[in-house]
Amino acid sequence: MEKKYLLNTKQMAEFVARGFLRFDEMVPDAINQAVMAEFDAGTTQSAPAGTPLSQCYPEPSAVGKMLRLPELQGIIHSLVGPDPTFDHHAIHVRQPNEGKAQGMHGDSIIDTRLHFDIQIMYFPHDVPLEMGGTLVVPGSQYRRINEMDIARYQNFKGQIPMVCKAGSILVLHHGIWHCGRQNRTNQKRYMFKVRLNPRVRQYRLWNTDDLEQMSGSNKEIFTRNTNAIEDVQTILSRQEPWFEGAAGRLEIINRINQWRFLTGDQNFDVHYWLTRLENMPENRLEAA
Ligand SMILES: [Fe+2]
Repeated sequence: MEKKYLLNTKQMAEFVARGFLRFDEMVPDAINQAVMAEFDAGTTQSAPAGTPLSQCYPEPSAVGKMLRLPELQGIIHSLVGPDPTFDHHAIHVRQPNEGKAQGMHGDSIIDTRLHFDIQIMYFPHDVPLEMGGTLVVPGSQYRRINEMDIARYQNFKGQIPMVCKAGSILVLHHGIWHCGRQNRTNQKRYMFKVRLNPRVRQYRLWNTDDLEQMSGSNKEIFTRNTNAIEDVQTILSRQEPWFEGAAGRLEIINRINQWRFLTGDQNFDVHYWLTRLENMPENRLEAA
């Protein structure tokens, strides 16, 4: 995998903090058109769960062409490694003026791993707000819920509706809260989703050339204004509007654990939050 296609440390930290990455207008229009024609013809072939992705969507599949774009291959490699496993896909079609939306959902209560799957969502045509693209709640991926438990809620502080141009891609952590919104236009809306599972340990799979420089150290954070520097600690301590008053501590701890898992650096911390909880001295005071 050529390094130039891999994610950098800042992008990985953003994925760990917010549970998604967004790539606007990444897929060329010829592929967008071919994919929609394939959907209309109903010829997109799925594969059994557990099939290596490289064996799915053989030529001349238009979806295969999209997934084999080197830019997307680099993103996939960075998050779930080389040739991950195909889990399932879905061709979501929302009819014109459909009059209903999907309830907000997520499914992390059954999945407590630090290993994670990704869901790639691909939007082959322009999606204006009234077409109701996918809605995501940034930073919700570690907040464990059971499927549609949250479906009664229609709107969340800080939610992001996917309003985008044709060929845009969203890459989601499997736990993020999301839903498909109502299509209020006269046109059909398409969204293709594919879930991928890693086949290798998710350890430093991105371009880590800038990791050292972005990591900082605990010593440094007390001697500089971290808010002025876009380092990993700054990105992982950023609040989402829905976080509770107490500084969103729970999510920051979750992010630290995820970052330690991805980097193997068990001393990594964000502003001493986790180190404090780990301080359980066993040595006894020596008698004077
Ligand atoms: Fe979903």
